[in-house]
Amino acid sequence: MKAAVLNEQPGELVIEDLSIDKPGPGEVLIQVVGAGLCHSDLHFMEGLFRSQLPIVMGHESAGIVQAVGPDVTYVKPGDHVVACLSIFCGQCHQCLGGHPNRCSNPAATSRAKGSAPRLSRADGTPVDQMARLGGFAEEMLVHQNGLVKVTEEMPLDKACLIGCGITTGFGAAVRTAKVEVGSSACVIGAGGIGLAAIQGARVAGANRIIAVDVSKAKLEMAGQMGATHFVNASEVEDVVAAVKELSGGGVDYSFEAIGRAATVRQAFDMLAMGGTATVIGMVPSKDVVQLRGIDFLQEKKLQGSMMGSNQFRTDIPRMIDMYLSGRLLLDEMVSATIGLEGVNDGYEMMKRGEVARTVITFD
Ligand SMILES: NC(=O)c1ccc[n+]([C@@H]2O[C@H](COP(=O)([O-])OP(=O)(O)OC[C@H]3O[C@@H](n4cnc5c(N)ncnc54)[C@H](O)[C@@H]3O)[C@@H](O)[C@H]2O)c1
Ligand SMILES: [Zn+2]
Ligand SMILES: [Zn+2]
Repeated sequence: MKAAVLNEQPGELVIEDLSIDKPGPGEVLIQVVGAGLCHSDLHFMEGLFRSQLPIVMGHESAGIVQAVGPDVTYVKPGDHVVACLSIFCGQCHQCLGGHPNRCSNPAATSRAKGSAPRLSRADGTPVDQMARLGGFAEEMLVHQNGLVKVTEEMPLDKACLIGCGITTGFGAAVRTAKVEVGSSACVIGAGGIGLAAIQGARVAGANRIIAVDVSKAKLEMAGQMGATHFVNASEVEDVVAAVKELSGGGVDYSFEAIGRAATVRQAFDMLAMGGTATVIGMVPSKDVVQLRGIDFLQEKKLQGSMMGSNQFRTDIPRMIDMYLSGRLLLDEMVSATIGLEGVNDGYEMMKRGEVARTVITFD
């Protein structure tokens, strides 16, 4: 099966023909129908975070179950599924404490060290899977606890976006920050994740939603998603001052959806007293975020969000219902649809800030 492989960091993806093993215990073989391009893969391709190599990239995919391994009870061939990298064991203290997105026992849902690899080259070289999914591929072999069944009414080339981007952004607003009705919010970075956070803030009932981006086109999309006010960071000298002016002194909730220390600082500085800044972006491991200590006397809070604090088997079917009833916008978030061989061009478009989400579809 064809897959997009990263062989070096930094590096581009190479389309290779790989072998995929039969499903082992707890595993499911999926024919991929749609795969979204998330910026997290780009961080790895740019070498900002280290990874095992070679590796099939992609972690935002949906498809149809082809075959299941022994002990698989959750799905059967023919089921439509969305994959999510928050693969839960269901037994560790994080899973049992209601936080399966923080599962602390990935070994329970992975193949044992030393056993046959899920993916390999013809010469036997093992090939890893991004986030234990490897979604830029015609087929995926994943643990059943990384899947949620979805209604066949839901188009899979849109459902894939929920696997990471929508779950992350929407969940950051609704689950991590628990945005309150009538509050004010600001989202810095209106790419796929930020636009989903804007939608989460809208659905949660925020009254004033300020979008910040360097691209005029992204700010227009932010308006479609529910933003009420806009700051073009490439046109104003001081983003924090601009947001404070628009919000009467500061926002109740802010979200950083880029992955830069400087914009994390902005998110914290633009808060009203008692406000909460939620960092969604992946800030490179070498970067340090600096804050003024005195600001903590204003009861400002800074927190991270991992995959929107999801409980994805509950959340994703709900988000699909919201899409089908018109409350969650997904069609509008897809800027381009490409084939697998176009994946590097897709990431070039993301680097230029031209697209919200690009989706790979398979024939
Ligand atoms: N926390 C998580 O669980 C999680 C999950 C998925 C993605 N992420 C991270 O979220 C971040 C966003 O991902 P994405 O796919 O939406 O990326 P993206 O490239 O689609 O969007 C980033 C947006 O930020 C804008 N931008 C860039 N610099 C800016 C600046 N200085 N000020 C204002 N806007 C600026 C760009 O124009 C673009 O619209 C990435 O760091 C990604 O790795 C985190
Ligand atoms: Zn992602
Ligand atoms: Zn667990």
